[in-house]
Amino acid sequence: MKCELDHIGIAVESLSSGKTFYETLGLGPMTTETVASEQVTVGFFNLDNDARLELLEATEAESPVAKFLRGRGPGIHHICLKVDDIHAAMASLKARGVHLLSDQPKVGAHDRLVVFIHPKSTGGVLIELSQPRGAKA
Ligand code: CO
Repeated sequence: MKCELDHIGIAVESLSSGKTFYETLGLGPMTTETVASEQVTVGFFNLDNDARLELLEATEAESPVAKFLRGRGPGIHHICLKVDDIHAAMASLKARGVHLLSDQPKVGAHDRLVVFIHPKSTGGVLIELSQPRGAKA
């Protein structure tokens, strides 16, 4: 199965302050999108190799990103790998006892189908799998 680095998710207290460093680095402009299902507003910076950085700002005080910030402060939150068939990937992982955070893919930013893998199953890293919609039924 094809598997590429899609983006690295970085939790920030706010997009407006969190983006400053990346703009200083010469990246941008940042594009933003609110993902209601995850209670976040995300800001994307494109990198030159098609991977992206995703800044995550919580929209609700009890959202997963807000809890992450309270517990650990700003920093790397997850990495996202792009797969060509998320349903096949999920079935394969489930068959091997990997703990997925949802039974079905959800619609994430950029109209992707996404699922998160519990860090306990990955050696401590929250991993998001993502499949562009339309890439496969
Ligand atoms: Co992400």
